[in-house]
Amino acid sequence: MAGKLFIAGNWKMNTSLSEATALAGALVEKIGSVKTVDMAVCPPFPYLSGVKEALGGSKIALGAQDVFYEDSGAYTGEVSTEMLKDVGCSYAICGHSERRHVIGETDELINRKVLKCISDGIMPILCVGELLTQRQANETIDVVSRQIRLGLEGVSSADISGVTIAYEPVWAIGTGVTATPDQAQEVHAMIRALLGEIYDTPTAGGIRIQYGGSVKPDNAAELMNCPDIDGALVGGASLKADDFAGIVLEGIK
Ligand code: 13P
Repeated sequence: MAGKLFIAGNWKMNTSLSEATALAGALVEKIGSVKTVDMAVCPPFPYLSGVKEALGGSKIALGAQDVFYEDSGAYTGEVSTEMLKDVGCSYAICGHSERRHVIGETDELINRKVLKCISDGIMPILCVGELLTQRQANETIDVVSRQIRLGLEGVSSADISGVTIAYEPVWAIGTGVTATPDQAQEVHAMIRALLGEIYDTPTAGGIRIQYGGSVKPDNAAELMNCPDIDGALVGGASLKADDFAGIVLEGIK
């Protein structure tokens, strides 16, 4: 276990402004003072400021769902680390599977985002995970190892402690099919061993590895009780205040 659990909600392309601020407000009421678990929510870009305001001085941090690696300029549609910091973001998700597989992001692009976050003081959440076909072809370890190695290229051992890895098997995302605790733990242990090879064992022991893929209040505890699972990256269930709060409350038991 790498210190405190870290539970983050990825709202994806959901909510209106009023829904987003209401959701944040409800979370503040339910779990806003929890200190024993690190928490963040990642709303869509247009709602970051409004959600930050709704989060107020609570313990719930703000994260972005993506970021770009340049400072400013002619990059239509992109958002910089400075912009994210300006509106109060502490975290940015890099390389979510939907960006890899729907938008076509490559490991090289994702690596540039991770490095930019680190150099500018945003904590990246690097997402990795295999497709169902890759799992069925016994390629899970190869795929995830490659995503980790390439995604962390150039990240020093001094900087890696600020990075969170999120293992999200693509076949478990939004499907209601959760990896069993054994399936998840197996990959998490492999990821930690690989981090031990890239850095060293004590350093790897301090890196938080979240699980993501159909996490709900009723399966969160058994997943987060696994020795190498240090929290959750929650999609669908993070859109309901009761469910996200329920997952966090499972984390503090
Ligand atoms: P679900 O929790 O909806 O399966 O989504 C997981 C995810 O992709 C979080 O980033």
